[in-house]
Amino acid sequence: MQDIFKIICDDELERRWIWISLAMAVIMGGLLGVLAVTNNLHPPSNVETIDSSRLHLSEEFAEDNLGVKENSDGSLTVTMVAARYGFFPPVIEVPTDTMVKFRVASADVLHGMHVPNTNATTMIVPGYISEVTTAFPTAGKYAFLCNEYCGLGHDSMWSRLMVVPKAEFSLEVPEPEEAETEEAEEDVGDDLL
Ligand code: CUA
Repeated sequence: MQDIFKIICDDELERRWIWISLAMAVIMGGLLGVLAVTNNLHPPSNVETIDSSRLHLSEEFAEDNLGVKENSDGSLTVTMVAARYGFFPPVIEVPTDTMVKFRVASADVLHGMHVPNTNATTMIVPGYISEVTTAFPTAGKYAFLCNEYCGLGHDSMWSRLMVVPKAEFSLEVPEPEEAETEEAEEDVGDDLL
């Protein structure tokens, strides 16, 4: 069989390398395809725009509305803001084996979100709402990292994702600070009486 690359190249060694590099590209492309299917990796397809400079004035991304919310079908939505250099809220708790939809917006520059050992990863582009929907089969303490260089503090931009067994999960978060203030107020009241 005649080497088809003979038309563009006379040197035999060079032609051999053309074939080797072609084979490498095919193998890597194939691997990418296989891994994407077996690990359920797919590009986030949500396209939704938002004014990054006015996040705090938007209803969804206002400070009080961030965090974990339950949807009527039992799945969860986690609303977060990424800003130099942190994710807000800094600690998120979700149950295992539940569909969780992360909706993340950047308040300033390009960030990323990546939860190692899971398929949760996306870019957070200013001006857009990034969406990732996934479920976590294994309970544990996960890091929620920024994986796009965003400035000098990029290295320390991360949050904590706690995945707890489904049976132990509750959306009712005790608010110790508020309880303390109430108690303090009561104490003052007692003193006055
Ligand atoms: Cu945010 Cu790197």
